[in-house]
Amino acid sequence: MMAMISCILKTTHKIFLAFLLTLAVTFGAQAQGESEQAEIATKGVEPGSTEGAETGSADPAVIDAGAALFKNNCAVCHSAGSDVIVGPGLKGVTGRRSESWLVSWIKNSQALIQSGDADAVAVYNEYNKQAMPSFAFSDDEIKSILAYIDAQANVAAAVPTTVAGPEGTTPGENIGTDAIGAVGGYLDIILVVLIVVLIVLVVTLLLISSLLKNYLNKNRELTEDDKEVVNQRFDFSKVYKSKAVRTLVMLIFVVVLLDLALGKVMGIGIQEGYAPKQPIAFSHKLHAGEHQIDCNYCHTTVYESKSASIPSANICMNCHSQIKKESPEIQKIYTAIERNKPIEWVRIHNLPDLAYFNHSQHTQVGGVECQTCHGPIEEMDVVYQYSSLTMGWCIDCHRETPLNTEGNEYYDNLVKLHEASSKGAFTVASNGGTECSKCHY
Ligand code: HEC
Ligand code: HEC
Ligand code: HEC
Ligand code: HEC
Ligand code: HEC
Ligand code: HEC
Repeated sequence: MMAMISCILKTTHKIFLAFLLTLAVTFGAQAQGESEQAEIATKGVEPGSTEGAETGSADPAVIDAGAALFKNNCAVCHSAGSDVIVGPGLKGVTGRRSESWLVSWIKNSQALIQSGDADAVAVYNEYNKQAMPSFAFSDDEIKSILAYIDAQANVAAAVPTTVAGPEGTTPGENIGTDAIGAVGGYLDIILVVLIVVLIVLVVTLLLISSLLKNYLNKNRELTEDDKEVVNQRFDFSKVYKSKAVRTLVMLIFVVVLLDLALGKVMGIGIQEGYAPKQPIAFSHKLHAGEHQIDCNYCHTTVYESKSASIPSANICMNCHSQIKKESPEIQKIYTAIERNKPIEWVRIHNLPDLAYFNHSQHTQVGGVECQTCHGPIEEMDVVYQYSSLTMGWCIDCHRETPLNTEGNEYYDNLVKLHEASSKGAFTVASNGGTECSKCHY
């Protein structure tokens, strides 16, 4: 009997210990899972991730033609996704309607409605009988538009996060991260249930053991030894002193520390994708993209000096003294000028002081395009840091980029020397572009 009881008591202790360990491990795992989830989520919305994504199976040239037709004729009223602008979003329309129906609709929707076509009448009524204009397109042109719409839907499906910046994450489009979130959600629920079950188990066992203890103490004659066993207390210092527990705690601690340290070291000063909110909702996509204003018009010193200037409010006023004066965003420019205070743009690209970088050397002398380093600025509503701007990034490009020595006598001898000693191209690096002193004062 005594043996059995002492066995029960010991088991209780063991279960309690196991419970503590499980708790520690599950929380560790959960934290890990969460950080991975967060990582995937941020990777998911990494700007620019849709660029270069393969579209559907149709001929890219056809899709491009369709894209142009769509932008010029349809985009004022339709999105190629599911947003309603004036008319319905056209995502999936080739599934909803037959091709011949679409062709007749786009050529002359009114005629189709008057012919009594049920679908045509229904969609016409749904959108409050707004007549869509007729388009004198050939069948092939219409098919190219449809191919473009399909391709857009494929892009959205292949790369679920078609998000331009860190804001404006459209719900529903984020299938990727949502799905991960859902799985994470289930795991959370399972973990919580497990923990509750464990707690219930432990409490029940503790109750049983205390009941037994009381019973034994009251109703039995016990020897000294037995008493000791029955009345032994749960000793936390034992748990603390136990080798297994100590090693485990140390291990968890070390792993967490390493993980943190690694993240910090790898991430120090690297701000790829950094896209702060600016005081005025200025869009490069609108200005440099749609209205094709030259970069140089605003960043006036980028070809002449070390730094590319940020335009003053006066440059904005060249146009906005006339354009969109009533817009609240434009009013902010007026306020800045009235108060004689510069607009406080948040700086995005910033090398540490120890490094020397010169714009004119790269843009004017080297002929490197802005986009090579800054990415597709003309497509960005909000500018984000496209390149890592690390030392490795600078040096990699210097190693790979041939120097433009054509028609520059200064280089003739250097190139000859280089060709005598090496087979590779005469790169920026061959000219000393990887010497520390070139980039560090
Ligand atoms: C001036 C606005 C406007 C323009 C421009 C326009 N649409 Fe429409 N479109 C509509 C409206 C509104 C509807 C909804 C039906 C209605 O009220 O006639 C519609 C409906 C449609 C539908 C039917 C959708 C469905 O779910 O059945 C298709 C397809 C369509 N448009 C394609 C196009 C294409 C392709 C172009 C460009 C070549 C275009 N539309 C240009 C306003 C427009
Ligand atoms: C109409 C004026 C205008 C034009 C044209 C323009 N920019 Fe800008 N640019 C700005 C303003 C204002 C800012 C600061 C606000 C911001 O970051 O959006 C800026 C910021 C930037 C930045 C980030 C600067 C930082 O803080 O690190 C880069 C890079 C940039 N522009 C590149 C370009 C390139 C490349 C082009 C041509 C394709 C261009 N810009 C055309 C006005 C302009
Ligand atoms: C060369 C002409 C030009 C210059 C310079 C210019 N803009 Fe614009 N801006 C435009 C045009 C054109 C539009 C589009 C107006 C429209 O949509 O009708 C626009 C639109 C805008 C809008 C959107 C307004 C709205 O509510 O729709 C903002 C904000 C803006 N500009 C800010 C600026 C700032 C800030 C500067 C100076 C750094 C600047 N712009 C310089 C031509 C210019
Ligand atoms: C070889 C790469 C490279 C090219 C090409 C390049 N930039 Fe930059 N740009 C940078 C780096 C690096 C910085 C950060 C500089 C710093 O912090 O000192 C920067 C910063 C900027 C800034 C912020 C202001 C500043 O000078 O720090 C603007 C605006 C800008 N670039 C615009 C442009 C435009 C416009 C072009 C094309 C005409 C261009 N850049 C071409 C690498 C480049
Ligand atoms: C996209 C390619 C590219 C990137 C990225 C790049 N450079 Fe360059 N760099 C060039 C080219 C091309 C030249 C040569 C220009 C010429 O013809 O003299 C050059 C030249 C230079 C020179 C002058 C070298 C000499 O021999 O006189 C310095 C200094 C320099 N770069 C610094 C930097 C720094 C700092 C960075 C990173 C912040 C950087 N570069 C990133 C392409 C690049
Ligand atoms: C082509 C330009 C270039 C050359 C050549 C270059 N560096 Fe750098 N270096 C940079 C840039 C840019 C940074 C800043 C990177 C950052 O902020 O992540 C940097 C950063 C550093 C740092 C500081 C790192 C930190 O974390 O703060 C050291 C140290 C350094 N470089 C040493 C060197 C040495 C030594 C050489 C010669 C073997 C050298 N660099 C050659 C561009 C260069």
